[in-house]
Amino acid sequence: MNTETVKTALITGASSGIGRELAKLFAKDGYNLVLVSRGEDTLQQLADELKQKHSIHKAIVIKKDLAKENAAQELYNEVKQQGITVDVLVNDAGVGVHGMFATETDWEKESAMIHLNTLSLTHLTKLYLKEMVARNEGKILNLASIVSIMPSPLMAVYAGTKAYVYNFTQSLVNELKDTNVTITALLPNATDTDFFRKAGAENARVTEMLDDAVMVAEEGYKALMKGETKVIPGGLMNKSYEVIAHLAPEEALAAMMRKNMEPKGSPLINLSKKEQKQLAVGLGLAVVSLVGYAIFNTLTNLSEYDKARYRYKFGRASREAKRTLNNVSESLSETLANAKATVSSTLAS
Ligand SMILES: NC(=O)c1ccc[n+]([C@@H]2O[C@H](COP(=O)([O-])OP(=O)(O)OC[C@H]3O[C@@H](n4cnc5c(N)ncnc54)[C@H](OP(=O)(O)O)[C@@H]3O)[C@@H](O)[C@H]2O)c1
Repeated sequence: MNTETVKTALITGASSGIGRELAKLFAKDGYNLVLVSRGEDTLQQLADELKQKHSIHKAIVIKKDLAKENAAQELYNEVKQQGITVDVLVNDAGVGVHGMFATETDWEKESAMIHLNTLSLTHLTKLYLKEMVARNEGKILNLASIVSIMPSPLMAVYAGTKAYVYNFTQSLVNELKDTNVTITALLPNATDTDFFRKAGAENARVTEMLDDAVMVAEEGYKALMKGETKVIPGGLMNKSYEVIAHLAPEEALAAMMRKNMEPKGSPLINLSKKEQKQLAVGLGLAVVSLVGYAIFNTLTNLSEYDKARYRYKFGRASREAKRTLNNVSESLSETLANAKATVSSTLAS
């Protein structure tokens, strides 16, 4: 193999979870690796394992606390000193903090999280994107989250950081449209890693329904390689969140998401009448979105002309469903019946 032409991927947060799985995928495809986190020993073990298994030329380890001032610049300088060109940047390192913002969570932890999840990610993106644009080549994967597009009570600051990552990434998608450089946002739902334990949320209901980190990494990797702008890994239920997030009232979304973050075994229905109605709307929308998404997926096998027609029809159905569902005084059964009727009559016409 000509080692001059081998590409290099820099992955922050490669010591565990999704980042570790992403590192394995890059190694499998023959990429040289720069693995970054605070856990030097774990990173070194992974580097040795991947070098041996995939006979990659170079896998270097850099110990860096990216929640510290200037950490991104230091990392960039260290990589530069070693004469490495980064072809793919994966901003994976991130943490969460669980609890009521006003009374329970610790500001030191939250400000370190903001630094890690947003500031260092932005600075690394700035440093490497400049080089990639100059070469007119390169790829970036930013770890957003499903909570990038929904409020997440009891993880309020974390959700804020992920909303930032998503919006930042999508804005850059537009700025990069006339180049060969791509940037992709990965929006996993709750995933089976060490994340919830470290966030102090190991007892939250959400930990009973976790996605597989290997699946999340594989879907993220595929989207990155194709230069897609975003990906929500997993089945239809996960993907339907995007539609729900656009259609449901914010209070309904927040009520639904809060239930996920409350302790396992806590009552599911201790909501006010208004919240119950909003939740009913949210659940109704989940079903409508699933149906709509399934139909849309089926239709993507059609000709461009038919796709355009049906996209328009689905948009119209969504708007009608939104109008119907915005009337939160309706019962769940009425809401569902109306929405289903809208979707079926659109398809029948
Ligand atoms: N798990 C989920 O449900 C989920 C859902 C959506 C999005 N995400 C996002 O996915 C990313 C990866 O999380 P994960 O689920 O794989 O969790 P994880 O297993 O806890 O991995 C987090 C990674 O970030 C690194 N990290 C943490 N603090 C760091 C710091 N100060 N400096 C440098 N590296 C640091 C950790 O390494 P060290 O501890 O060795 O430093 C570790 O490699 C995060 O951005 C997270 O927000 C996770």
